[in-house]
Amino acid sequence: MGDPMNPTEYDHDHLQEAARRHLWMHFTRMSSYQDHEVPVMVRGEGPWVYDSRGRRYLDGLSGLFVVQVGHGRRELAEAASRQASELAYFPLWSYAHPNAIQLSERLATLAPGDLNRVFFTTGGGEAVETAWKMARQYFRATGSPGRYKVLSRNIAYHGTTMGALSITGLPDIKAAYEPLVPGSVRVANTNFYRAREFAPEVADDLEAFGLWAARDIEQRILMEGPESVAAVFLEPVQNAGGCFPPPPGYFQEVRRICDRYGVLLVSDEVICAFGRLGAWFGALRYDYQPDMITCAKGLTSGYSPLGAVLVSDRIMEPFLDGSATLLHGFTFGGHPVSTAVALANLDLFEKEHLVDGVAARSDAFRAVLEDLRDLPIVGDVRGDGYFFGIELVKDRDTRETFSDDESERLLRGFLSGALFDAGLICRADDRGDPVIQLAPPLICEQEHFDLIGQVLRQVLSEAWNQF
Ligand SMILES: Cc1ncc(COP(=O)(O)O)c(C=O)c1O
Repeated sequence: MGDPMNPTEYDHDHLQEAARRHLWMHFTRMSSYQDHEVPVMVRGEGPWVYDSRGRRYLDGLSGLFVVQVGHGRRELAEAASRQASELAYFPLWSYAHPNAIQLSERLATLAPGDLNRVFFTTGGGEAVETAWKMARQYFRATGSPGRYKVLSRNIAYHGTTMGALSITGLPDIKAAYEPLVPGSVRVANTNFYRAREFAPEVADDLEAFGLWAARDIEQRILMEGPESVAAVFLEPVQNAGGCFPPPPGYFQEVRRICDRYGVLLVSDEVICAFGRLGAWFGALRYDYQPDMITCAKGLTSGYSPLGAVLVSDRIMEPFLDGSATLLHGFTFGGHPVSTAVALANLDLFEKEHLVDGVAARSDAFRAVLEDLRDLPIVGDVRGDGYFFGIELVKDRDTRETFSDDESERLLRGFLSGALFDAGLICRADDRGDPVIQLAPPLICEQEHFDLIGQVLRQVLSEAWNQF
């Protein structure tokens, strides 16, 4: 199929034909590739990726919020190769291997508080699925067998397996698979920009809005009956909907509410951990103590698949007793190669001070995006660290959004393709209101921010003129 280092050697026509005939892409409207080329990426270097035609793109989404240290890092490829030669595979079912042990120790050291126990999975959805099962079994073991429900926020994405999909708050991606797992309930999200539509009484005061959103969780717990609620799953910054940061005081109030009603707080950090917000974990960034953290993606920077659930000593305690067993696992969870890559990845983070670097450069990135606010289509710019969303509107003053049809024409019909053609990979998303999302590799600097700003200005201006 050609030399990946020399993209001109790819047989484009054959790849296109075979992709159309055989490959089922994820979350992809397959019909759209009948008359469009399938983008085929073949190589990466730093923040750049190259397609099979040799065109270069700035990877403004780190693949899929994954490639924290950038592409083409030999250290990680070599760590994988060394481990595959030494011991390619052994399961964590009753056995252990050194990388899994060392990585669990290292994660426990980095994590907030007493999250000292680590259960490995192969990705984020499995980590979410696992955390729900752990919560349910924990309550059975501690005399509250009626606690099985979970709360999560409107429009939040938590994965696609049946349990994780049940926790997800996006009705459109659930509908085809109903009935899902019972006992999953929605609460308000922290979309302050739209607060006047659903919480007008606090729409002008961010802190009051944060308390209102936290208390929506309390009301839900009371409505469901506290004795039936196991956990609440929250991302530090909610991704779907376009990067909703937590208002000041929100997580502290949620923690108090969880403690009051004996509900576990699960911080779903599949995107937000490993430097994405300028801290090792989102919970550290916003100073709250979860009972569990789910993570994946940036843990290996994507050089090999891995996810994890970090669990507090309190939740672990009943599982250390007598015959108690979490009857749950994955053949490839905590794979030796993936855990070797994760250790080498964390070494790179430390050597290159990536987490502090994001904290130091985040304001400069934000400033470039804020500068786009003079464009009439830009309604809001929000986010944190290297994780931002730009909400697009029809009318900046009234905040009127696009209709479904307009959004379809704007995002799928124009923006996604135009941004890609202009050499920027980012996400044009309308799972909530239409947004452009950016989450570049953590090695990005001013020159990359500037390029992102230039491409967005050009393409968003064109979009405004066309619609
Ligand atoms: C917050 C959150 N949870 C869970 C998942 C699911 O992770 P995965 O795709 O690795 O299963 C994602 C994926 O983007 C996510 O953003």
